[in-house]
Amino acid sequence: MNMQTDWTLNETAARRDNYYAASQRKFIPFKDPMVFKKGSMQYLWDVEGRKYTDLLGMNVCISVGHSHPKVVAAAMEQAQELTHCTTMFYHPVPAHFAEELAATMPNPTGDIEWVVHFTNSGSEAVDLAMTMARSYTGNLDLLALRSAYHGPTAAAQSITGISGWRHPGMPGNVAFVPEPHQYRGIFGENAGAQPYLDEIERTIHTATSGKVAGIFIESVQGYGGVVEMPKGYMTGAAERVRAKGGLLIADEVQAGFGRTGDHMWGFEADGVIPDIVVMAKGIGNGFPLGAVVARKHIAAPMSEKFMFHTYGANPTSCAAGRAVLQVIKEDNVRENARDVGAALLERLHALKDKYQVIGDVRGRGLMLAIEMVKDRKTKEPDPATTAAVFEATRESGIILSKSGAYQSCLRLVPPMCLSMDDVNQVHDGLDRAFGSL
Ligand SMILES: Cc1ncc(COP(=O)(O)O)c(C=O)c1O
Repeated sequence: MNMQTDWTLNETAARRDNYYAASQRKFIPFKDPMVFKKGSMQYLWDVEGRKYTDLLGMNVCISVGHSHPKVVAAAMEQAQELTHCTTMFYHPVPAHFAEELAATMPNPTGDIEWVVHFTNSGSEAVDLAMTMARSYTGNLDLLALRSAYHGPTAAAQSITGISGWRHPGMPGNVAFVPEPHQYRGIFGENAGAQPYLDEIERTIHTATSGKVAGIFIESVQGYGGVVEMPKGYMTGAAERVRAKGGLLIADEVQAGFGRTGDHMWGFEADGVIPDIVVMAKGIGNGFPLGAVVARKHIAAPMSEKFMFHTYGANPTSCAAGRAVLQVIKEDNVRENARDVGAALLERLHALKDKYQVIGDVRGRGLMLAIEMVKDRKTKEPDPATTAAVFEATRESGIILSKSGAYQSCLRLVPPMCLSMDDVNQVHDGLDRAFGSL
C-alpha cells in the first residue's frame, strides 16, 4: 500500500502540534524529544538508530517485551482471519481468554466463581467496576486513596487523587482516605497499616452516608510514585468496608501480571481476595484491552441492563492477551521480575547511599522508584532534580518516567524481560546522571 509516512522529528513534531488537541499535547517528556521507530523486548530504537533501554515499558503496557514474537504472531494470525467480532456474537478466542484469566485468580477453596467483562481500556474497566459495585451493593459512596490514579474518564478521575489529573466536571460520591505511604505518609515513616485503617473508619463515619459501595486500592500505586500498601492494609480495608456493605476493588492495571515478582497479582502479597479486580495495560502487551474480573454473584445484577464496550472482547487483542499469559508461564516472566527487580533495587540502594538527593528507593519486582528530596530531614520533594536526572539518563540510553503527586519520583517499570546485564547498565547510567548534577 502506498501510504507515505514522514519519520523526521521536525515534521512529526509539527504535525503533532498542528493537529493534536491541546488536551493530548501536554506530554512532551524530553526537552529534546525523539521519534521511536522500533522495539524489541526491553529495548527501543529511535529513528536515528539510537538504542534505549525502556524502563517505562511504554507506560507499563509492555509486560513481556516490545513486539514479543509470540504475542505478535498470535495477534497477526487472528487479525488475518477476523480482525473484529462484536461482543454480541460468539467467538472462541475471548471465551478461552476469559477462562484462562479467571484461572489466574486466587481460589483457595475452589468455591469462588470468577467471571470476566472485557473493556477497551483500564479506565473503562474502572468505570464498570464502579457501576458494578454500586449496582450490587445498592450504595453510592466509594472510597479511594489520595495519590491514586485510576484513569482519564470522568468516573475514573473522580476516584483519582492527584490534582494534576483531575479536570472539572467529575461525578461525586467519593471520599478520599490518606495513602498509607511508609516514607512520606501523614503518620510518619514506617507507621504500618493500623493508623491508616483507623482513618478508613473515621472517613466512613465522617464523610460518607455510612453505607459504602466499595474501596478502590492499587496494591502498589503507580503514578502515585510506586507506593506499596503496607502489610495488612488491603486485608484491613476489606474488613472495614465490607462491614459497611461495600466491596474491595483492586486496581491491578500497573501492579498486575507478575510485575511485583512474588505473585501474579499485587494484592496476593497481603493474602486478601478482592471482590472485583480491574486490569489493563500489560494484559495485551501493547494491544488495547482491559478487563474487570469479578465474583460471579457480584456481576450478576448488571444483567438487568446493557453495558457494551465496542472493542471489549476484540479477538485480535484477546489473542494477544492469551499469548501474554502463555509467555508469562513459559518464559518465567514473573520469576525474572522478582530476581532482576531485587538486583536492581539493591543497586538503587547503593545509589541512595552515594547521593544525598535520593530520599527513598522502594518497590518490589520490576515496579520500583527513586524519590528525590531537597533535604532528607524535611523530605521536601525535588521535582527539578528529578527532571534533570530524567534528562541526563537519556544520554546513557535509558528511558525513565517522572511520577508521584509532586513529580519527584523516577519510576522504573520496564518490560519484565529486563536482564541482569541491563541492571548494570541502568545502574551505571543513573550513577553518571546523578554524578553530573
Ligand atoms: C492504576 C491505573 N488504573 C487505571 C488506569 C487507566 O487505564 P487506561 O489508561 O488504560 O484507561 C491506569 C492508567 O495509567 C492506571 O495506572
